[in-house]
Amino acid sequence: MKRIIVAVDGPAGTGKSSVSRQAALEMGLRYIDSGAVYRSITWYVLQRDKKMNGEFRFTNDIAELTIEQEFLRDGCCKTFVNKIEVSDFIRDETITKNIGILSDNRDVRDFVNRLLRRWSREGSVIMDGRDIASVVFPHADVKIYLDASIETRTQRRMKEYREMGKNVDENVVKKEIIQRDEQDRNRPFGALIRSDDAVYVDTSLLSREEAVERMKEIIQRTVSPIDSGLCRMRPYGQRYP
Ligand code: DC
Repeated sequence: MKRIIVAVDGPAGTGKSSVSRQAALEMGLRYIDSGAVYRSITWYVLQRDKKMNGEFRFTNDIAELTIEQEFLRDGCCKTFVNKIEVSDFIRDETITKNIGILSDNRDVRDFVNRLLRRWSREGSVIMDGRDIASVVFPHADVKIYLDASIETRTQRRMKEYREMGKNVDENVVKKEIIQRDEQDRNRPFGALIRSDDAVYVDTSLLSREEAVERMKEIIQRTVSPIDSGLCRMRPYGQRYP
């Protein structure tokens, strides 16, 4: 049975996860959120050591951590750590603040990459992240790099804050986005790279629906209709242990 891997990379705030999720849903593929895996490990480590103090050591209990992800029919992607649902907890700002310590760690990256590759063997997937096309799946069937201008990403983030009822300074948000890009591009392992063979999509002037259509077109163009028909297997509600 032919299975396909669609690797989607790009900086934070380009709509990778919401566009990939919707495209996966409409095409009957599974969506895997690799950022949520890094967030989950950070959550687990912070549960045990609230301060972390910029230090982290990869231990046996992390090597044996059970992380599962479930992609539901409504497009929701749930993440579980040792059977506990952490989908909401991992969006907390403390996670975002501390995640760099773990996502820069080579052992953590190796652990996550092994997990992501194992999940991909279960069926056809759309997976998003920073190094999916470059490191995790250099031979992915389809590679897409989603981008958007700093201004657009700032406005999108501001909208999210407003919806959460938070009043945040626009310049601070913009500065944070620029800093995060710097970190993502310059980390020692798994840095954000635009692969030469990835299709570049600038979502700055696209609505979410337009970006989804664009992603679907790219996938359909690259993968033959027969293949994409064949990959419509067990698309929903599948948990990946
Ligand atoms: O996509 P996100 O914001 O949920 O990602 C959270 C963090 O994890 C972000 O700082 C980048 C990092 N990440 C990574 O290093 N490699 C990936 N494949 C995905 C995310």
